Amino acid sequence: MRCLITGGAGFIGSNLARVLLARGFDVRILDDLSTGRESNLDGVDCEFVRGDLRDAATVDKAVAGCSRVFHLGALPSVPRSIADPVRSNEVNVLGTLNVLEASRRFGVGRVIFASSSSIYGDQPVAVKSEDLAPRPMSPYAVSKLAAEKYCQVFYGVYGLETVCLRYFNVFGPRQDPDSPYAAVIPIFTRRILEGLPPLINGDGCQSRDFTFVENVVEGNLRAAEAPGAAGMVMNVACGGSISVNRLAGEIARLLGREDLVPVHAPARPGDVRDSMADIGLARRVLGYEPIVTFEEGLRRTVGFMAGDTVPV
Ligand SMILES: NC(=O)c1ccc[n+]([C@@H]2O[C@H](COP(=O)([O-])OP(=O)(O)OC[C@H]3O[C@@H](n4cnc5c(N)ncnc54)[C@H](O)[C@@H]3O)[C@@H](O)[C@H]2O)c1
Repeated sequence: MRCLITGGAGFIGSNLARVLLARGFDVRILDDLSTGRESNLDGVDCEFVRGDLRDAATVDKAVAGCSRVFHLGALPSVPRSIADPVRSNEVNVLGTLNVLEASRRFGVGRVIFASSSSIYGDQPVAVKSEDLAPRPMSPYAVSKLAAEKYCQVFYGVYGLETVCLRYFNVFGPRQDPDSPYAAVIPIFTRRILEGLPPLINGDGCQSRDFTFVENVVEGNLRAAEAPGAAGMVMNVACGGSISVNRLAGEIARLLGREDLVPVHAPARPGDVRDSMADIGLARRVLGYEPIVTFEEGLRRTVGFMAGDTVPV
């Protein structure tokens, strides 16, 4: 069976590609390398199409002949979308529409869409479940919500099977530490490896449901096949709550640098305070269960970034 991964040269997509290949699938990747890297695919035996999701003809060519489409290609990051909301909308919304339209016309069996917990925004409840009304606080969150709605409408109107997975703060090997919009775990790890104290935006009491990438890959594989999942939106996370202060402390401990006392900077606009998932729906519909704990995932991630230089 051939699968397309859009955004397959990115952090999560390249991890997904490795697992799909290991399980015997043929993998094609569509990516324009805007935030992803070819080196993420070192040793990955797949068909690579370099192209832009915003171009319908390119998307058509990539989708043709595939029975599953994992649509991860997007411009991620809340701050990036605040800096350039139009481009986020074009890639994340028009790009998704192009993928859905091609999938409908080429008879794809199912499209699995990478959505985001940012859709919940500032809902004042500790645990986010899918029945909460979305309250997006950034252009990025709006773009993911619009794309989800397109996925559901394509199922309702055309019968194209779609499943939207709301990822919660994914981390793991190959997450880019160098981008100006890098995520917190690679940033903290890189700084501590360089002997610098972690820089925490706000008081550090904000919390996230940090989810190791293998759990997200597992959620995708299950969503691609589970009967009864079509048309649904569900959380994929670890189901835990870790404060940014604790995170900084854990990384420093793993690297033996507890002497590096965190420095605080102002909170970032558009950031939500607390984000933790109810994963009950994915458990029921997909049989999903996190397979790697936060602690184990962090150990592997920090070890990957440290290379051979630091025993973790
Ligand atoms: N990392 C997280 O914590 C997280 C959380 C929620 C949702 N997501 C979503 O998961 C998906 C993957 O995220 P990631 O963390 O791997 O980010 P990433 O930036 O590493 O991957 C995104 C990929 O999409 C590609 N891309 C961007 N614009 C494109 C375009 N116009 N045409 C073709 N390809 C394009 C990039 O080059 C990159 O390889 C994204 O849709 C993101 O919004 C990620």
